[in-house]
Amino acid sequence: MKLFDVYPLLDVNIVRGQGCNVWDEKGQEYLDLYGGHAVISIGHTHPHYVECVTRQLQQVAFYSNSVINTLQQQLAERLGRISGYEDYRLFLINSGAEANENCLKLASFKTGRTRVLSAQKAFHGRTSLAVEATDNPKIIAPINNNGHVTYLPVNDLEAWKRELAKGDVCACIIEAIQGVGGCTMLTPEFAQGLEAACREAGAVLVADEIQCGYGRTGKFFGHQWLGIRPDLISVAKGIANGFPIGGVLISPDFEAIYGQLGTTFGGNHLGCAAALAVLDVFEQEQLVENARRVGDYLMQQLKALQAESSHITELRGRGLMVGVVLDVPHKEVRGRLIYEKHVFTGCAGTNVLRLLPPLTLTHAQVDAFIAALRDVLTSL
Ligand SMILES: Cc1ncc(COP(=O)(O)O)c(C=O)c1O
Repeated sequence: MKLFDVYPLLDVNIVRGQGCNVWDEKGQEYLDLYGGHAVISIGHTHPHYVECVTRQLQQVAFYSNSVINTLQQQLAERLGRISGYEDYRLFLINSGAEANENCLKLASFKTGRTRVLSAQKAFHGRTSLAVEATDNPKIIAPINNNGHVTYLPVNDLEAWKRELAKGDVCACIIEAIQGVGGCTMLTPEFAQGLEAACREAGAVLVADEIQCGYGRTGKFFGHQWLGIRPDLISVAKGIANGFPIGGVLISPDFEAIYGQLGTTFGGNHLGCAAALAVLDVFEQEQLVENARRVGDYLMQQLKALQAESSHITELRGRGLMVGVVLDVPHKEVRGRLIYEKHVFTGCAGTNVLRLLPPLTLTHAQVDAFIAALRDVLTSL
């Protein structure tokens, strides 16, 4: 059997990782400013993570959601405290799409409505409602195209208010910084105005923190720069440093009803041990502060490079979620960074390099990346 060929692959076979570096099978080292698509938060194979996951594997890896799981309770308690959402409750699933799926279900159960407002260029996942809320017709199958979602321009508050005023919206779903959308940032004025308009219209505000959350922007959640408190918050990617787990933080306004939500694997023992190890390292190594400090330095160095190179037309983002907008397609730049300079970066659209490194990135690693990018841009 062959693999179902849906991924355009880079010609690299990664066999080992440590911190912000990965190695291919020939022993070539790479600097990882991609973090396996914003997933590696505390660095590859962090010793504390390896120890906690190994210990849990030797005790019990999985038992179903029909029994008490104190690891889930610890995770909810720790996550509430570190994120500033102690009065919210946590529901655990396996991926980002599944987290958004459950957010939209909860919003619809609560309001009895079926209409969703989402942003143009938004990405919320590839399943049922999550893909319908994703502004990309190429990945919405006819069976998912059920007319639930209206896509509106980011930061155009009047457009969102006009739709909310119709009284049939169950949820507005936003990313504080759009990932796939190229690191476009919401303004505080828009976010606060939208929060107030949702309250007035009886609609639920959902913050998708799957990419911009968990410390990446230099606050625990990206929306915490915007002065809002969403009703539902979806998390995944970096929360267990590569172990597949997602979560929804649920405001006290929602009633928990037995059997209304559920999953087989979600919140399993091994996943919770991985997620708890991530929170340990966040606290021990002050990774949110590191993301802010090193992110500021990265932006400062990129601005200096922009002053030298006409190929950088715009810089977007915050902390360690940065979009470098180029005047050329990202394909050549990204390819040369990987194959010639051995530096991984992400991308968005046709001309944005997207930087999503582990939150343990150092100043020296920023310097190495900037030197590599300078070389590539000057030789274009
Ligand atoms: C903002 C955002 N939401 C949702 C998802 C979907 O997450 P998953 O791939 O874990 O289903 C992603 C993945 O890239 C994302 O970036």
